[in-house]
Amino acid sequence: MKQVISFVLNGDQMELEVEPHWTLLYLLRERLELTGTKSGCESGECGACTVLVNGKTINSCIFPVMEIQGTTVTTIEGLAKPAGELHPLQRAFIEHGGVQCGYCTPGMIMAAKGLLDENPNPTEDEIRHALAGNICRCTGYAQIIEAIKAAIQTPA
Ligand code: FES
Ligand code: FES
Repeated sequence: MKQVISFVLNGDQMELEVEPHWTLLYLLRERLELTGTKSGCESGECGACTVLVNGKTINSCIFPVMEIQGTTVTTIEGLAKPAGELHPLQRAFIEHGGVQCGYCTPGMIMAAKGLLDENPNPTEDEIRHALAGNICRCTGYAQIIEAIKAAIQTPA
């Protein structure tokens, strides 16, 4: 039976009917057509589906939709400014080769945003630790780490 939930999504107040068995990933991609958040393993292992809930990184593929009641959810679509200006992390990933096929990129950027919001000047070890749950099959990770280090230096 559907239930109504309310939450803030990328700055917009939402009130939606959902099925309690849905995941947050299903709601985002299949119901709201926010396909920037990717679906990979769907078992909490790859990080492709990473978004922020109340500023914390979570794997939306295993996050029950009912748990977003009253929260603030941020997805990759919420990072660029309304006029389209990219977030410093997005620019840095492009400029430092942190994007190849791009499938891991939204999750990587959201994991990095979660880290930088909490710790604006992380060490390389802290960056690597924050990204430990995010798998990339293309870049070898070095460019991703470089991109995040560069974004630390760039004002938002
Ligand atoms: S799709 Fe969610 S962790 Fe892989
Ligand atoms: S850029 Fe292809 S999986 Fe990371």
